[in-house]
Amino acid sequence: MNDLGPSAGPCVRNRREVLITKELLGTIVSHYAQNENGRHGIVHWARVLENGRRLCSINGARRQVVELFAVFHDSGRVTEKRDPGHGQRGADFALALRGKAFDLDDEDFKLLYDACVRHTDGETMADLTVQTCWDSDRLDLGRVNITPDPAMLCTEAAKEKSMIEWAEARSRENHVPTLIRDEWGIVIP
Ligand SMILES: [Fe+2]
Repeated sequence: MNDLGPSAGPCVRNRREVLITKELLGTIVSHYAQNENGRHGIVHWARVLENGRRLCSINGARRQVVELFAVFHDSGRVTEKRDPGHGQRGADFALALRGKAFDLDDEDFKLLYDACVRHTDGETMADLTVQTCWDSDRLDLGRVNITPDPAMLCTEAAKEKSMIEWAEARSRENHVPTLIRDEWGIVIP
């Protein structure tokens, strides 16, 4: 990545400020080429976000990066099947919206971009925040009938048996997080 895009300058956001606005989510959904209610769609993004919030509260990873990863990492999919380029497309879409639909300082944006680009490769070695992004996604594999393998997870927080069981149960029952309605203003049919 040569150009980080427009910077909002020093990051002064309060941790409680809403980062993923209804407008940002609406833009991502309208851009999404797949069924937004499909297995890589909105409900998956919301569970990944909640997995990430839980991991961040344990390991101190950068919450804003992890939350934005949840909604961008699969946004560039062109198929629900194997799609090796979708991480790069999701990263580039985030770059296109940076400074317009959300703000993130340069250091955090580099982490978000890296996490999106490399999330399809099965890697485990990276910055803690990037690892936490990947774990948030991998903990939701139960939706496609796969139990998350601790060997494929990156962080100690994600490898905890109780964490895997909590996330897997939610993904297998297709749990619909209330944040979809409460934070994003979307009603899932
Ligand atoms: Fe995903």
